[in-house]
Amino acid sequence: MRVDRAELLKSCASPSDFPSPGVPEIAFLGRSNVGKSSLLNKLVRRKKLARTSSTPGKTRLIHFFSIEGAGPDLRMVDLPGYGWAKVSRQERNSWQKLVESYLDRRGPLCAAILLQDIRREISADESLLIDWLTERGIPTLVAITKTDKLKPMRRAKRLRELKEQLELPKECVIATSAHTGDGMADLWRAILKQV
Ligand code: GTP
Ligand code: MG
Repeated sequence: MRVDRAELLKSCASPSDFPSPGVPEIAFLGRSNVGKSSLLNKLVRRKKLARTSSTPGKTRLIHFFSIEGAGPDLRMVDLPGYGWAKVSRQERNSWQKLVESYLDRRGPLCAAILLQDIRREISADESLLIDWLTERGIPTLVAITKTDKLKPMRRAKRLRELKEQLELPKECVIATSAHTGDGMADLWRAILKQV
């Protein structure tokens, strides 16, 4: 989709900060460092809209971005990553509370995009999240990230394996690279179907 405007609307540390519901929202969810902020930037073709970092766990807030362009107005929501090392139980609980308070009761939420690194195994965290989203009837897409990290043969094999393991319709699992732009058209198509 052609994006004419993309800007940070609000960064929130608690549900009371969330902006009032407006246009449809798409949430980006996944392990810390999986590439959520990078994928969001690539999708809207802005290099530094969402902050990216090679230090895992930098995004601890929920960031709402307003997107306007050729298609319907949208908000993209960058959720803090889970699973960073050396995290206390207390921090883990606070992540869970903040993210669940968004996902569980957000009227305009029309799809969640769960990101999965092509080089990693699907962990209990991802399986539980998919089940949790399914139970709540939240349409879920899986973006396989960093596909540029593997050579074509290995990439194709990993994609087959991951698609088999994920019990989702084929069109809901999309191979992407925020470095090469691979998969952006497919991901946009899948998003716009849910809006
Ligand atoms: P948190 O905000 O900490 O949860 O991380 P995040 O999921 O937002 O990850 P982020 O986008 O900050 O990316 C983490 C690291 O992975 C950065 O060093 C990125 O440059 C790198 N990265 C992200 N996407 C890709 C990709 O498609 N290919 C490659 N090769 N590297 C990527
Ligand atoms: Mg991030």
